[in-house]
Amino acid sequence: MKIHLIAAARPNFMKIAPLYHALKREAWAEPVIVHTGQHYDLNMSDVFFEDLGIPEPAIHLSVGSGTHAEQTGQVLMAYEKVLIERHPDLVVVVGDVNSTAACTLAAAKINTYNGLPTTDNRHYRRPYVGHLEAGLRSFDRSMPEEINRMVTDALADILWTPSEDADENLIREGVAKQKIHRVGNIMIDSLEMLRDKIQNQQTYNDYNLKPQQYGMVTLHRPSNVDSPETLATLFELLVRISKKIPLVFPIHPRTRKSAEQTGILKRMNQSKELVLVEPLNYIRFMNLVFNCRFALTDSGGIQEETTYLGIPCITLRPNTERPITITHGTNQLCTVDSLAAAVDGILAGAARQECHIPLWDGKTAARVVRSIKDFFKSI
Ligand code: UD1
Repeated sequence: MKIHLIAAARPNFMKIAPLYHALKREAWAEPVIVHTGQHYDLNMSDVFFEDLGIPEPAIHLSVGSGTHAEQTGQVLMAYEKVLIERHPDLVVVVGDVNSTAACTLAAAKINTYNGLPTTDNRHYRRPYVGHLEAGLRSFDRSMPEEINRMVTDALADILWTPSEDADENLIREGVAKQKIHRVGNIMIDSLEMLRDKIQNQQTYNDYNLKPQQYGMVTLHRPSNVDSPETLATLFELLVRISKKIPLVFPIHPRTRKSAEQTGILKRMNQSKELVLVEPLNYIRFMNLVFNCRFALTDSGGIQEETTYLGIPCITLRPNTERPITITHGTNQLCTVDSLAAAVDGILAGAARQECHIPLWDGKTAARVVRSIKDFFKSI
């Protein structure tokens, strides 16, 4: 059974790796990694393949950056060609990036029985689509990811969810119950797979930081970084917070580009306590997370990883598609206005908190493999 695993942007690599390894151990499965090329810098893409022990992608679409329509359209066209040539049995998409929605749409619309050409003139069953990390909703359609989630979940044949709230969202949208399979959080599989390597690092030493005595910052959402005014206000705030506790901030290319355009970056580089660094590989980055006092982020994955580790997390967004990290975890939402107080609150409180979310246990990939087997038996 040929199974395409679609990877596109940085957080996708951590989601496909455990599944690739689990499928590779199955005699009936042939996992094939397809990289759409949405992220292409060495430190946004290649270094993750190395850390996660996955081979170079067998298929590379090399689409690169662009507007939403351009990027989505490029992936759609490029992946349709691949589908016609390679006819996989199953396409696994992960997360909520533009490539997730584009590959889902390409696979859902291909129907070789209705006249689409195949390179060898044979008829193939259309590929099924499985969405890993299905059902998450921020209910905020100004986020491109929310649109991608809705499109993907409406079209996928198998919906693998991380938590109960995701099941409920899908049922509310009219998705048939038998399509929904709660499998847990695949990111935690990567974390557990590499836990020893992560803990053996001392990345914080490279920046003269001490465990528990620094905060970790990541910001890349358009709503926080695309407007020069918002970004400038945020950076000034970070400099002020860093006088209380040093901050380390690996800068996403989107954030860097915006900061360079406005000249803020130069000013920020002069601050000793706000340590701006290039994007890091998974193991070094996670070592910094494991040892930080708190994380300040707008990333989805970090909300989950900090909850799993019991580390306080401040999410600089008005909403989250991962509410379980607030109700059962360490996460809190905040605005630019409430940020400084949120940091003070954390510094005055406990360093760690016990959290337990069912099925966030490092065994999600095994559950997905079982679910794929059952699905193909049932059709
Ligand atoms: C994308 C995802 C977002 C995810 C994030 C993780 C969408 C709509 N957004 O956002 O959900 O959280 O990835 O990082 O799919 N760039 C580079 N080098 C790269 C990649 C990007 O320089 O390797 C720069 C380019 O200027 C590009 C910009 O970053 O235009 C944005 O990249 P893009 O893939 O469009 O969106 P992200 O902000 O990375």
